[in-house]
Amino acid sequence: MEALRGRLRAIADRVPDGARLADIGTDHAYLPIALVQSGRCPGAVACDIREKPLAAARRNVERAGLSDKISLRLGDGLAPLLPGEWDVAVIAGMGGDVISGILARAAGQADGLLLLQPMTSPEVLRRALCAQGFRLLDERGVDERGKLYTLLTARYDGVVRDCPPLAAFVGGLRPDRPDDRRYLEKTRRRLRDAAAELRDAPGQEPAAASTAALVRELTAYLEG
Ligand SMILES: C[S@@+](CC[C@H](N)C(=O)[O-])C[C@H]1O[C@@H](n2cnc3c(N)ncnc32)[C@H](O)[C@@H]1O
Repeated sequence: MEALRGRLRAIADRVPDGARLADIGTDHAYLPIALVQSGRCPGAVACDIREKPLAAARRNVERAGLSDKISLRLGDGLAPLLPGEWDVAVIAGMGGDVISGILARAAGQADGLLLLQPMTSPEVLRRALCAQGFRLLDERGVDERGKLYTLLTARYDGVVRDCPPLAAFVGGLRPDRPDDRRYLEKTRRRLRDAAAELRDAPGQEPAAASTAALVRELTAYLEG
């Protein structure tokens, strides 16, 4: 675990003791290696949709001497997993739209704890969680030496929820927690830039007005 910093460390810290891990889009396999090496996880399945990252993962797992505890599988999302073989799935380092697609295709199979870390479009992922019957249990901002991330914890409960525009952009982030606040301020900058672009585009007045309204709502939320 000491080998992990920032974003990956924040994800690892949320994996419960003794959990069997599934790391979806594992790439280098740093997360399963650190969690199994530290004894937090008894074993892990590390999956990737592409051969090349999976080969890199295999090299790192072999080098760590963990081939008997970390199984490597090629495939899309949760498809390579067997029913009942994992407790926590991490889907990190991909776009919010990609993670949403993985969850949609996993219908009924994503029944453990989910740790989700979208690199872009978290609002797409939050809307998908509401629409697909996942409950958001927790969300935290993570500041890795000035790079800001958000980390969501969710679990399927089958309840479809409304996701109003502000909720889609805020999720479980709270202005009284410093890293959450920094992430919310980044979101507001992104929305302000989008509103300015829309203002200059012909025929986009309604979208510009609704984005500007969202910026005001987010400002009110930040000011508490
Ligand atoms: C940027 S890496 C992230 C690696 C690691 N999870 C992290 O957070 O540092 C994204 C990885 O996700 C994989 N990937 C993308 N779409 C996927 C999918 N639908 N199913 C499984 N893996 C996928 C890519 O091949 C790539 O190796």
